[in-house]
Amino acid sequence: MLTGKSRGILLLFLAHGFILTKEGEPLNKYVIRGGKPLKGQIDISGAKNAAVAMIPAAILVDGVCRIENIPQISDAVIQLSILKSLGADVRAVTEHTMDIDCTGITSAVADLDLMQKLRASYYLIGALLGKFGEATVAMPGGCNFGGVRPIDQHIKGFTAMGAEVEVKNGLVIAKAEGGKLRGANIYLDVVSVGATINLMLAAVLARGRTVIENAAREPHIVDVANFLNSMGADIRGAGTNVIKIRGVERLSGGFYSIIPDQIEAGTYMAAVAGTGGELLIKNVIPKHLNCISSKLEEMGVEVIEGEDCVLVRRRGPLRRANLKTQPYPGFPTDMQPQMTTVLALARGTSHVTEGVWDNRYKYVDELAKMGAAIRVDGRTAIVDGVDHLTGAHIKAWDLRAGAAMVIAGLCADGVTEIEGIEYIERGYENLIEKLTAVGADIKFVEETEPEDRVKKAV
Ligand code: EPU
Repeated sequence: MLTGKSRGILLLFLAHGFILTKEGEPLNKYVIRGGKPLKGQIDISGAKNAAVAMIPAAILVDGVCRIENIPQISDAVIQLSILKSLGADVRAVTEHTMDIDCTGITSAVADLDLMQKLRASYYLIGALLGKFGEATVAMPGGCNFGGVRPIDQHIKGFTAMGAEVEVKNGLVIAKAEGGKLRGANIYLDVVSVGATINLMLAAVLARGRTVIENAAREPHIVDVANFLNSMGADIRGAGTNVIKIRGVERLSGGFYSIIPDQIEAGTYMAAVAGTGGELLIKNVIPKHLNCISSKLEEMGVEVIEGEDCVLVRRRGPLRRANLKTQPYPGFPTDMQPQMTTVLALARGTSHVTEGVWDNRYKYVDELAKMGAAIRVDGRTAIVDGVDHLTGAHIKAWDLRAGAAMVIAGLCADGVTEIEGIEYIERGYENLIEKLTAVGADIKFVEETEPEDRVKKAV
């Protein structure tokens, strides 16, 4: 039986080739009656940022890749749509398992409209360039935090591997000298998740050996490397800051299951920290949550680790804490808005410093509408804890800011209405259902007919 809106969207896509449209527009909203402690169990879905890389990585494989634990979120749907538009055969096996066969892909020119809908479409460059020696793609779109999201490190790496890369009229046009990339030593000037994965994708079929230094170490980087290795690639060192890739002739089909989403789990941990109550968060890798667990404990929240679950409980008041976001294993930037929201309700003054993005505080103005006392000074937010937040009409400016707005609504007195929920649906599977099952009063309110939210793809 189909339940849950995102699942509906994904299955609709699979059955009829539909895609989301009017992305980012505040057509619909979430309405939350806050002030209820959360209690119960939540199952965590597959990792978004692994899925959005693994789906295009299938381009490199000759044969069928069966990928399990794909989260039913709009970013995954768009990546699958891009593959379909290139000529891949994409079939649903179960609600979270896809068979992807990219042997029918003949074009290295990706659908430009679709690509502009998400940031992770940049992985098409590495995958197409690695497989076909050329790629024409649109500059990636995706969440806009208010600052620049460059891809110069990706381009620097492709160039070192013998590609000529031109960025012109919103397009990235890349061509490998002699039709095939060659291995290279690449030092990343900034620790970049996207550049690390993209260069891994480009390198697996390249001639010779590639070494990526100052590589990012996030769990999803290890997951993508494991996926590629299980299909026959030779990647060593993923999870450290030096990754070595020996190019192989070909990859062949196989099975792979995506790891659980660290940030989805962290978001529900933050939610129960804010509302009080007790949540058993299941299907997680507790090690990936260590820095989030430690920070919550510092704030007076109890976190008990099981083998593949964490129990998160708050009975007493929240204490202030400072935090600084950093690349893994540091505190994840993708948890910054959610934690700042919880700290807005802690006793005392907390300092939150954003160490990854130039600007990720656009959501603070929304929290102010609910009574939060937060001042932003450059990359630091100074958070003076208040006793309570009050429901208001607010807006999600990006995916994680949207998650923070949901947490604020769950904690607030009265009714909160959140617009811009399309952002939230990029990365949270069945958010309404999961929260409702643990006692939240949160509803999806549709302001247009469901048919208006989808259109036929080409
Ligand atoms: N950067 C450069 N040049 C580059 C690439 C990045 O200067 O060529 C800078 C960025 O401006 C930023 C820093 O390096 O200051 C880190 O950027 P990174 O490349 O690591 O980010 P990304 O790959 O574009 C991924 C996630 C983001 C997450 C960041 C950091 C995906 C699809 N996105 O983005 O996730 O914030 O890593 O961990 O994997 C999210 O899920 O909500 C999200 C935004």
